[in-house]
Order: sequence, then C-alpha cells, then structure tokens
Amino acid sequence: MQRAGIREIGIIVGDTRKEIMSAVGDGSQFGVNVTYIPQDQPLGLAHCVLIANDFLSNDDFVMYLGDNMLEQGLEGFVKEFEAARSAGGKNAPTAQILLCHVDDPRQFGVAEVTEEGHVKRLVEKPKDPPSDLALVGVYLFDKTINEAVRAIKPSKRGELEITDAIQWLIQQGRTVRHEVLQGWWLDTGKKDPLLECNRLVLEVLEPRNDGSVDGGSQIEGRVVIMKGAKIVNSRIRGPVVIGSDTVIDNSYIGPYTSIGNNCNIVHSELEHSVLLDGCTVNDVHKMTDSLLGRNVQVVKSQHRPRALRLMLGDDSKVELDA
Ligand code: G1P
Repeated sequence: MQRAGIREIGIIVGDTRKEIMSAVGDGSQFGVNVTYIPQDQPLGLAHCVLIANDFLSNDDFVMYLGDNMLEQGLEGFVKEFEAARSAGGKNAPTAQILLCHVDDPRQFGVAEVTEEGHVKRLVEKPKDPPSDLALVGVYLFDKTINEAVRAIKPSKRGELEITDAIQWLIQQGRTVRHEVLQGWWLDTGKKDPLLECNRLVLEVLEPRNDGSVDGGSQIEGRVVIMKGAKIVNSRIRGPVVIGSDTVIDNSYIGPYTSIGNNCNIVHSELEHSVLLDGCTVNDVHKMTDSLLGRNVQVVKSQHRPRALRLMLGDDSKVELDA
C-alpha cells in the first residue's frame, strides 16, 4: 500500500487488536500513518466500511483484507483505477475489483463478466457459481460505496457482505471495473495456504549468515541465519530462515521452514513448517507441515511418533506420549 502511494491506513480490529497493534504500531516503520478502528463483532466487510465512515470521509480508498497475500503489488491496480476515473465521463468507474480464476469458486465471492468485459453480477459463495472468477480481497472504491453499505441487508450468514454492496452499485447502473490477477493469491487464514505462502516467500530468499555455525554443522542451499542465532552440530537444508537468538542443536531443519526469534530446537527434525517466536521443540522426530504460534512447546514425552501435523495457537504446549 505504501508503494502504491497510500499514506493513511485504517485497520479494522477485533479480538486480535493487541497483537495487531503491537506488530504494526503507528505505521511509521512502514512510512504510513495508522488509525485503528475497533469492530466489536464480526458483522461483515461492508460493516467495516460503515464503521470506518469518519476515517474515510469522502475519499477514494483501497480495501485490503488482512489475510490475503498477493504476489503482485498494488501500484498498477491503483494507477489504472485513477486513470479510468480521471478519464471521467458518465462511465467513470465507481469501484474496481480484482478477480482470479480458481478451481472451487464456491468458497468465494464470484463474478459474472460479459464478453465485452463488463462486470454483470456478483454473488457471495454461490452453490452454483456462474463462473470460476473469484473475488480477491482487494477492492478500490469511491465514496458511493458508503451509500451502498447502508442500502444492503445482512446475508444468510448474518453479515453485511461487501460483495452485495458492489452488486448494489451495479444495480444502480454504476460502472464496476475489474482486472484479472496475474501471479499467485492466497487466503492465509488457513494452515495449508499459510504454509504455501511461506514457501512462496522463501523461494525468493537471499542467503545470509549473521549468526554462528559450528564446525560440526552443514548449511545447504539458501539459508538466512539472523543475528545471535547459533547452529550447533546440525544440518540445515534451505530454503530456511532462522530468527535471531534461536538455537538449533543436534537437529535437522529441512526445506521451507521459517523459525522465529528466541526458539530452541534440540535433538529434532523438522521441515516445511512455520514456528513463531519463543518456541521450543525438543526430541521430536519428525515434524512436518506444521504451524506453531508464539511460545509453543513441543517436547517428547516417551515414544517416538514418526510425524506430526499440528496447528497450534499462541502459548500452546504439547507433550507427546505416543
Ligand atoms: C471474503 C469475501 C469474499 C472474497 C474473500 C477473499 O470472504 O466475502 O467475497 O472472495 O473474502 O478472501 P470471507 O473471508 O469473509 O469468507
């Protein structure tokens, strides 16, 4: 967003507001100003627009769903919208959506586009999708959307859907521009897409060693070792990231693993996993396809499981006895 020239960012926060605020702060680290807008209940994306009304006033804006990860930046998308709007005329777009061909459109908003390339209809999570074009969670709007979110009614799942608000714009005869996404798109709210996202991010890793690696260790491929990290008698096969002050002792870390700061991995084998800060993994053979939140402890109790597949929240602790 910053690269696309956006400087004022409002973040709608709910239950996880503390974590988000501590990660993002006032936005200065990203060169933007951040305003937090609390949403007391998850009443829908159009409800987010509704409660952001004072923040938005009558400005054009980008709405970006926090769990959507795109390969492509926003610069081109925003420029195209601005160009189409200033070209003006009565057909100037009032919104712009981003679409992506997907295998199972039923879990998304779906667009029906005419042969001439006009967005004709949008439906949220249809049982019988009119096309394979899913709505990506990045939308551009002008102030007309403020009217739309007031005009619609909650959906079956009890939410004010942004898809319905855009459909309202279409019904009012407004132009909704669209682009079809180039590159990958992931909805990281789920474990496997998050691991896939980690894979894609690690794919473009520049190797670096700012920590220490003892003589008994082997580092293969693209590996980033951050400041204060210690690799002792271990084998690391990239792409892998090891956070600062993390210790890897007598272990194997396999491809597509991201380990946070201050973790301890001892006598273990893990690969294709994401571990957030402060995790301990001790005597575990072998962990794969796993996602560990902050301060999670996975320690062997008696027997040796061949593999683990876990999704653990922050501060979890797992003791294995089988
Ligand atoms: C939301 C939107 C949906 C869109 C999706 C993209 O779905 O309602 O139209 O395709 O984000 O991630 P939700 O995450 O609320 O299920």
